[in-house]
Amino acid sequence: MTKPNAPLSLAFRPFGNSLARASGDGNALPMAETHFDAWIASRYRTLWPEIFEPSLLDAAVDFLADLTQGEPALELGIGTGRIALPLSRRGVPVHGIDLSPAMVAELREEAPDAGVDVTIGDFATTAVDATFRLVYLLRNTITNLTTQDEQVACFRNASHHLEPGGFFVIETYIPELRRLPPGETSQVFTATPTHIGVGEYDVAKQIEVSRHWWVIDGALEAFSSSHRYVWPSELDLMARIAGMTLRERWSDWYRAPFTSESRSHISVWQASA
Ligand SMILES: C[S@@+](CC[C@H](N)C(=O)[O-])C[C@H]1O[C@@H](n2cnc3c(N)ncnc32)[C@H](O)[C@@H]1O
Repeated sequence: MTKPNAPLSLAFRPFGNSLARASGDGNALPMAETHFDAWIASRYRTLWPEIFEPSLLDAAVDFLADLTQGEPALELGIGTGRIALPLSRRGVPVHGIDLSPAMVAELREEAPDAGVDVTIGDFATTAVDATFRLVYLLRNTITNLTTQDEQVACFRNASHHLEPGGFFVIETYIPELRRLPPGETSQVFTATPTHIGVGEYDVAKQIEVSRHWWVIDGALEAFSSSHRYVWPSELDLMARIAGMTLRERWSDWYRAPFTSESRSHISVWQASA
């Protein structure tokens, strides 16, 4: 927390590294970017404490472990291992793919002997030489792929890594366009004494730029990231293109029903047996 009247310094942190890649069918895809650099990686838990709430973690891990039946799982965008580490402690072998060496370094530091293997690469196109009972992609990370082609490639890549009858799980938000008044392009999505978040929408391009300002140790930190928001119906179509069928859709990890008022969803698609 900042002391009252303490002078604030302002730091703006632009996007991080990028890698070139191609889709599986040889078509060029845009540059893959990750803004999850060392600054974000070391503060991941501090910046988003709500996603580390123990009962939420337990519910997510229970849900995923049930689908694996103890067989191996692949996490796309494994990050710091927030879910992968407790899932592997349940006896599920977990492999990860992530573009950010900084996020993976945090995972290694937290649990050097966890036995969670990670491949550094773009989860839309990177292949791991194994198949899995479960592939999962959490915390809105599908929206980090900012074109439809990349999101379709991601579904194909997930399907490519599934055993027959295996499951692909996505956790992501419902686009908040119902909260955007006519003529407006911005909306506040969080406002606390230490964190302001504003989404800026380009509805023609289906892109939302999330702008964050945090007060951390007396300094004002600014950070932005671009997202291609996507509705469940479009994800279902991507799943069909990739040979998968919707099996379950819930509002949250506690299996609350998915309704018109749901602000997020957990969807489970299944590869054919
Ligand atoms: C919001 S974090 C989620 C981390 C973790 N899954 C969790 O639930 O805490 C998103 C992660 O996905 C990674 N990421 C984003 N786009 C990626 C891409 N195209 N390929 C691989 N990793 C990506 C980021 O580096 C970051 O570690």
